[in-house]
Parts: sequence; structure tokens; C-alpha cells
Amino acid sequence: MLYDYLMTQKTTSSTTETGSYTKASPSAEASTHFGFKTVGEDEKAGKVAEVFHSVASRYDVMNDLMSVGLHRVWKAFTIGRADVRPGMKVLDIAGGTGDLAKAFAKRAGPSGEVWLTDINDSMLRVGRDRLTDSGLLLPTAVCDAEKLPFPSGYFDRVSVAFGLRNMTHKERALAEMRRVLKPGGKLLVLEFSRVAKPLAPAYDWYSFNILPWLGKKVAGDEESYRYLAESIRMHPDQATLAAMLEAAGLSRVRYFNLSAGMVALHEGVNLG
Ligand SMILES: C[S@@+](CC[C@H](N)C(=O)[O-])C[C@H]1O[C@@H](n2cnc3c(N)ncnc32)[C@H](O)[C@@H]1O
Repeated sequence: MLYDYLMTQKTTSSTTETGSYTKASPSAEASTHFGFKTVGEDEKAGKVAEVFHSVASRYDVMNDLMSVGLHRVWKAFTIGRADVRPGMKVLDIAGGTGDLAKAFAKRAGPSGEVWLTDINDSMLRVGRDRLTDSGLLLPTAVCDAEKLPFPSGYFDRVSVAFGLRNMTHKERALAEMRRVLKPGGKLLVLEFSRVAKPLAPAYDWYSFNILPWLGKKVAGDEESYRYLAESIRMHPDQATLAAMLEAAGLSRVRYFNLSAGMVALHEGVNLG
């Protein structure tokens, strides 16, 4: 049934067999942020795509190095809060190399249905190969979070880890996430956030010096890691993002600061 639905969406959504991305058509004047730069809304997705095509093959090793392994702890907390149970349907958006999808699939079991999705086919390919290597064959799809090719009210859980920051129209993406959740279903948004004030100078120094340096040495790409540091600074803080989840129609919105607010997990429930 879902397969039939996806086939009907093929002509209207941004999901394509080749994984290419069809741009929305924003107004000529509309602008947004790409890190600290102001760019046309129609340019941002292409620039973000360049970043992730460039870093895909070194993404996992860079994640461990940059966060000194902490991303595993942040994800473990998210997995715990998601409380995925056997038989559940789960959508991981901007899933990249598949850390969350893999954990969810183990919990949902053979009667569950866990989708690994991302707008970027380079990232998704690395994720799909990793999952296959660990014996998991999950449905994978290239798709834009701002225009999900799934029916309304289909999933018990929707997650997005370190992806929302990169999206051009965050409100649109959050509204789509809510739309595809079943009544009672839960959204989990894990993202960099606003670190506690006393730590900010050290964190800034690390972000704007060490991150680009590591990017250059390990991934041969300084610019993408400068974008990472800048995009974190431009992302809404904890309270603003919580208000955005509420505006998207989610209820019981709350957030948890992790590592002194370096990262926050936001969650909300679709009460229908
Ligand atoms: C930093 S990676 C996160 C990957 C993975 N979730 C993790 O936590 O390791 C961000 C991902 O967001 C994806 N992304 C950016 N814009 C997107 C969009 N509009 N829709 C879906 N995915 C998007 C990128 O392609 C990239 O794979």
C-alpha cells in the first residue's frame, strides 16, 4: 500500500530515482543563511548539497573526532527518548550514514518498518552500505524533508539528527514531520544549540579554529567545516526551536540540554 502511494508521489515530490533534487520555486528576492553568508533561498539547498557530497566518505570519522565521541552519547539519549518498540513505523529524516535508523531498526524488529532517508544521495549511499554490512536491509529514499513523499499519519516516530539546521524552510520541514506522524506519534529533533554562556568563548575558539583545521587535515575540506561552525551559530536557540515545534502543531513540546546546551534534543507529540 505504501509502495503504491510512493509511486503516485514520484511525479510531484522531490524524490527521484537518481536522487537528484528538484528545487522549490521561491520568490526571486527571498534570502536565507548559508552559515554567515546571506544567499538566495533557491541557492541554499545546492550549497548544502555540495557540503555533504564533499564530506560523505569521511563523515563518520570526522564526527567521532570533532565531538570526541560525544555524538554517540547524544544519539544514545535520543534513542532512549524515542522508545521505539517492536512493530513501530519510524522515519529517520536527514539520516545520513544511518546511526539512528540502525538503532531504531533493532528495536522495531522484523514486524516494524524503519526508513532511512536523506536529500543527499552520497550520504545515503554510505548509510545504506553501512546498514547492509551490519545485516540490516532497510527501505531507503532520497527525499527532501520539506516535501516528504509519505502519507499523512503513517509513522509512530519521526527523527531528525543534525539535519534541521541545514534546511532552507525549517517551518515547512517541521510541518511535514508533524503531518506524517500518527496521532500520538512523537517527533525527535536532535540539533546543535546554544551552549551555556561561561563555555561560549572556549567553544567558539574550538569551533572556528580546530574544526576547520580538522576538516582540512582529515577530510581535505576546510570550508565545509567552517560552514558547520557558522550554521550552528545561525540556528535557532532552544526556546525559539521549541516555539517552532509548537507553531508546527506539535504538543507537549519539551527539550533537553545535552553537554551544557552544546546540543539539545527537542521532542513533541502529534495529538492530531
Ligand atoms: C550533519 S548530517 C546528519 C546525518 C545523521 N543524521 C547524523 O546525525 O549523523 C546532515 C544531513 O542533513 C541532510 N539534509 C540537509 N538538508 C536536507 C533536507 N532538506 N531534507 C533532508 N535531508 C537534508 C544532509 O544531506 C546531511 O546528510
